[in-house]
Amino acid sequence: MTNASGEAPGKILLIGEHAVVYGHPAIAIPLRGVRARAEVELTPNGGIEMVSDELKERVRSVEEASDRLAPLYRLAGSVAGIFGEQKQGMRIRLHSTIPMRRGMGSGAAIAVALVRGVCSALGRKLDTEQVCELATEAEREFHGNPSGVDCAVVAQGEPIYFVRGKPPQEIAVGANCFRFIVGDTGIESPTLQVVEEVSAARDKDRARFDSYLWELGSMASRAREVIRNGSAAELGVCMTHSHSILRHVGVSSPELDRLVEVALRKGALGAKLSGAGRGGAMIALADDEAGQERIAAELRLAGAERTITTSLGGTQN
Ligand code: MEV
Repeated sequence: MTNASGEAPGKILLIGEHAVVYGHPAIAIPLRGVRARAEVELTPNGGIEMVSDELKERVRSVEEASDRLAPLYRLAGSVAGIFGEQKQGMRIRLHSTIPMRRGMGSGAAIAVALVRGVCSALGRKLDTEQVCELATEAEREFHGNPSGVDCAVVAQGEPIYFVRGKPPQEIAVGANCFRFIVGDTGIESPTLQVVEEVSAARDKDRARFDSYLWELGSMASRAREVIRNGSAAELGVCMTHSHSILRHVGVSSPELDRLVEVALRKGALGAKLSGAGRGGAMIALADDEAGQERIAAELRLAGAERTITTSLGGTQN
């Protein structure tokens, strides 16, 4: 019997959400403090048994699996199938500390961890691009028309500049350290629904929505330059401007607006919702470590269910 495992971190969209679905750039960073893990044991009798700690499910066929787990169950079979091992029995346990449906990449991370775990158990290797492609297939079942940015950043495990259909580019960080606070509203973000609603709204008013999406993408390009050579204050301006465009796009919520406003009032250099919106998470930029801690505490006081800190440049966490 083989015991093997695969892992992947969470993620957060720094800038460019929604626009990235339409071919504009986005920047995403890994959240290394939270992780998904798949433990895979080969079994002699064929068939896959999958246990999900978070979904509290134990299934032995795709028919027994919930809508959430079924794409992962199918994914395990497809990965084994690639190596001609479709008859191989496996016992798989999925576990994750990434908050679910909060725009923190829980679906993408568990899919990437699973692909890696199955490969490792079978003693096979896939490159990051192949891992990402397979995981994006499962993501497609979770939320219709994913840009692929979530799987790309969690598979890469590094901050990326991403344009749909192109290989992700690593972000070169200049001398500055950019310190972020992620605030979780505690409310689920219905990614599939929000992405579909944006598409329907765009169909009704193409010129207006395309100008919003273009502007969001241009903020992502600007942010990449700023991360390379600029100041945290400039990045903050790109973030807060993006939030106001995302409000026009119609994907914010009173809870997200409130956390953004609290972060800005308490000294954040910029703040915005992150991910699909309507719930889920927001991200704020602090000017130093003390500011990061202060803003995180203020966000929790203002109702954030949890806060997670991360950074670009300097020591990342
Ligand atoms: C991804 O976390 C957020 C969206 O841009 C959807 C996508 O890129 O697939 C809203």
